Amino acid sequence: PPGAHVPALVIGTGYGGSVAALRLAQAGIDVHMIEMGMAWDTPGPDGKIFANTTKPDRRSYWLRTKTKQPLSNFLGFPIDKAIPRYTGILDAEEMGGIIVYQGRGVGGGSLVNGGMAVTPRRENFPAVLPSVNTDEMYNVYYPRANSALGVSTIDPAWFETAECYQYARVGRKHAQRSGFPFVFVPDVYDWDYMKQEAAGTVPKSALEGEILYGNNYGKKSLQKTYIAQARATGRVAISPLHKVTSVRPAATGGYTVVIDEINTNGDTVTTKSVTADRVFFAAGSVGTSKLLTKLKATGALPGLNSEVGKGWGDNGNVMCGRANHLWDPTGKLQSSIPCSGIDNWAAGGAFAEVAPLPTGIETFASFYLSITKNPHRAQFTWNAATGTADLNWQTAWKQPSIDMAKTIFDKINAKEGTIYRTDLFGAYKIWGDHLTYHPLGGAVLNKATDNYGRLHGHPGLYVIDGALIPGNTSVNPFVTITALAERNIERIIAADL
Ligand code: FDA
Repeated sequence: PPGAHVPALVIGTGYGGSVAALRLAQAGIDVHMIEMGMAWDTPGPDGKIFANTTKPDRRSYWLRTKTKQPLSNFLGFPIDKAIPRYTGILDAEEMGGIIVYQGRGVGGGSLVNGGMAVTPRRENFPAVLPSVNTDEMYNVYYPRANSALGVSTIDPAWFETAECYQYARVGRKHAQRSGFPFVFVPDVYDWDYMKQEAAGTVPKSALEGEILYGNNYGKKSLQKTYIAQARATGRVAISPLHKVTSVRPAATGGYTVVIDEINTNGDTVTTKSVTADRVFFAAGSVGTSKLLTKLKATGALPGLNSEVGKGWGDNGNVMCGRANHLWDPTGKLQSSIPCSGIDNWAAGGAFAEVAPLPTGIETFASFYLSITKNPHRAQFTWNAATGTADLNWQTAWKQPSIDMAKTIFDKINAKEGTIYRTDLFGAYKIWGDHLTYHPLGGAVLNKATDNYGRLHGHPGLYVIDGALIPGNTSVNPFVTITALAERNIERIIAADL
């Protein structure tokens, strides 16, 4: 309620926010989580909570009147379509030179992501987070995060025969024939449930192409793991459709947090102020960076340092497809949950997921999302004229990512006598270089904050999400975001509370 006082307020309900809420509650502290997206706990008219990827409706996009599908074209034709404006689950946020895809709702990115739960190779970790002790992360916090998230790997015997992973077996064959290491990628999807989907004994989710707009069954999103555990403590309250717009020191100590309650059209219904002893910024890399950039520039939090807004990267994401020969079909039925990748990080700076194209028809296409060692970092700055925090990323900055991905796919194409698909991102466009699924940085650990996420200049304010990580994790990021949050909150609870 307006005017309320809370010991700990968490902005956002993604990985960082959920870890903070659970561990604070277990330490006996009452927590209030504020989430701008919806609760995603009520079925729609079709009896399902989430929309299918192939049939987007108002539930699919955050305040858009037309879909903005990552794969915008098929056979060169645009496939986006009109939808009613609604506080849907996937935000395709256009930030100038890049579209940043993000989950909106209780569970954040865990609602829309592929669930690929990858711990970086240990030798790569010091470059990811140079100020963090590698032994502690690999002995304590990565295992803690993997266990709480429910991470596991596909049964290799089932992989060999499952119809829905023919596309991945074709991906393996082509990788290995060109001499690249092929690896299984762990996931938070329930593999036993997927086996039952394949056997036809349970309602289908991964085998019905559900992913980008939510999985109705099978995926262990945060709602089923950290958030369920946090709620069970009885100390965590969550307010969906509430958006934090300001945080400033309160006269009485602690912080005044200003919150807009919105309706499903995105309009503000009421504006509330509460006070909090401690505030955890967990609005995601973009959300946290935009808020902090604004609060510093407008004088609400004058003590923040000049590192705020800096060190933002796209985890080197770039997509492409290859056209296979007619004797290499990838299958009509494709599990929407990827289970494998091609690791050329050490030699070529690229780790490519063998991704599905769950169209329901045979496409003879192999599709890949590559994570690359792109060196470019962008910065958020406050634009007083428009009242927005702008990002200076340039589309041309993807070129190093394309070059790194080519170390894998040029070689495979040469070996197989195949070519790139040119019809998935436009007409005659090979590279999906306009987007990222993995925004990282903007309030970097040990720069904008101390080495545990405490913001400089304002005691009691913390960053605990992907904004802490300086632009790249060498693999998919959420396990690292979760493990870092586990490390930081343990220290904060022990030392500050
Ligand atoms: P996250 O973005 O999860 O949560 C932030 C929350 O804060 C959101 O719910 C948002 O609505 C809310 N918020 C923002 N501003 C607010 C405000 N002002 N007030 C209130 N609430 C606010 N990663 C991976 O490891 N494996 C994978 O397979 C994939 N796949 C993938 C697919 C797609 C389509 C996407 C979009 C992303 C992925 N990812 C992924 C990325 C992964 O989901 C992402 O890195 C994490 O969700 C980031 O976690 P955070 O805790 O940083 O923020």
